[in-house]
Amino acid sequence: MSRPTTGRPVVVVDFGAQYAQLIARRVREAHVYSEIVPHTASTGEILAREPAALILSGGPASIYEPGAPAVDPALLRAGVPVLGICYGFQAIAAALGGDVAHTGRREFGRTKVTVDPGGALFSGQPAVQEVWMSHGDAVVAVPGGFAATATSGDTPICAFEDRGARLHGVQWHPEVRHSTHGQEVLERFLHDVAGIAPPWTTANVLEAAVDAARAQIGDGRAICGLSGGVDSAVAAALVHKAVGDQLTCVFVDTGLMRAGEGEQVEETFRKQFHVDLIHVKAADRFFGVLAGVTDPERKRKAIGETFIRIFEEVARDVEDARFLVQGTLYPDVIESGTRDAANIKSHHNVGGLPEDMAFELVEPLRSLFKDEVRAVGEELGLPEEIVWRQPFPGPGLAVRIVGEVTAERAAILRAADAVVVEEVRRAGLYRDLWQSFAVLPAVRTVGVMGDGRTYAYPIVIRAVRSDDAMTADWARLPYELLERLSNRIINEVDGVNRVALDITSKPPGTIEWE
Ligand code: XMP
Repeated sequence: MSRPTTGRPVVVVDFGAQYAQLIARRVREAHVYSEIVPHTASTGEILAREPAALILSGGPASIYEPGAPAVDPALLRAGVPVLGICYGFQAIAAALGGDVAHTGRREFGRTKVTVDPGGALFSGQPAVQEVWMSHGDAVVAVPGGFAATATSGDTPICAFEDRGARLHGVQWHPEVRHSTHGQEVLERFLHDVAGIAPPWTTANVLEAAVDAARAQIGDGRAICGLSGGVDSAVAAALVHKAVGDQLTCVFVDTGLMRAGEGEQVEETFRKQFHVDLIHVKAADRFFGVLAGVTDPERKRKAIGETFIRIFEEVARDVEDARFLVQGTLYPDVIESGTRDAANIKSHHNVGGLPEDMAFELVEPLRSLFKDEVRAVGEELGLPEEIVWRQPFPGPGLAVRIVGEVTAERAAILRAADAVVVEEVRRAGLYRDLWQSFAVLPAVRTVGVMGDGRTYAYPIVIRAVRSDDAMTADWARLPYELLERLSNRIINEVDGVNRVALDITSKPPGTIEWE
């Protein structure tokens, strides 16, 4: 996809340790388009992107370790404004003849610095600021032409600038919220030092993405698999805005969706957006291939294969469809190739590309982060329930049903899950929690209801907080909410006589049970 903005990018050079994504997001919050490149990119490759400015990120290395990543002085002398952060700050010093040393004094966490309000990064800000530090090495001598512009108790040189050359650096992390004026520091750099006008707004991003999709598809036909989730929904709505009825959407109802999902997709896409929608009701087929299957990986494979087969069958009926729309996001683009190869669970994305089908991909969200996708979804007029829906695994409820997946057990789980969603929403926690859902184990326990003994399934409540699903903490739900969940699930869901709570973080647990 072409760059979805009229502006040149701010290129964030990634020195590792996950700071780069955060920096790129903060730059976009300042309404400036940003892209990330690894530190192994050559000076030529970086300059070929015609950057409006460069930001060198923090990283885990020590400048003087053998093999530590360095900055090419030619990159710093190319006339492009540069901001170095933490390791990036030290790397500028090392590249241009300053001095970095192990001082033996580590600064970690919240720290007070005194900035020079005359420094270009600090105009209009208080002289004493709280910032987030994380470093062992320190700059002990600035390179020629530079002036120090901030100091802390332990570190005399915490920031520097060479105004004429538009080279700046800070030892702390302005991208971290604990740095109270961090966003202002970034904005001073982007707007004042680099002189970048802010064209990156949701409306502009949407308009540019629509134009790009229209240019790519031309008068061809496209299809898009809808999963009920936010990414595929936003991608579909966006492409529909671009090419109207040249787009056909396919929603495969696996019988393993959350309550109301199929109806929501119908309501939104067919009735509100008038999208050409093929709704395949395939529950029986899925329960057929899942009969007798209890192994989690076999379940995932069976569902993935069946899904793709159905998708292929339907796609063949959409004559001349040459384009496949997918809701790929920027983090997937950055991480692909560098991702840890360890396959903990074989993830199956509904809408996954059948390998032997000759489609050209249309990926209108390729340069967006999740929060930007939600903003674009709202701009497109998608309903709140879709835009803010919690993540849901491709294999659906099947990976929350331990043991055999049958229509009856799926119905029990769907009903219990609907109560969880409703009560979590009512408690005002739905958007705060990464995920909150019900799980159906493969055991039954004894209970007593009315005058009679029961022998039925328990439901486990799973609720986690997380930023990216790589790690997660179990959510401390209020007792009142737990009490309502317990009462309502046992009273309203046939086949359940007990409610339990999962208090496992990730690691060592995973978020889903299978
Ligand atoms: P785990 O269970 O591995 O899940 O901690 C991490 C996140 O990924 C979601 N998940 C999936 N998403 N296809 C998906 O698109 C899948 O097969 C899949 N399995 C798990 C899960 O809901 C959580 O947000």
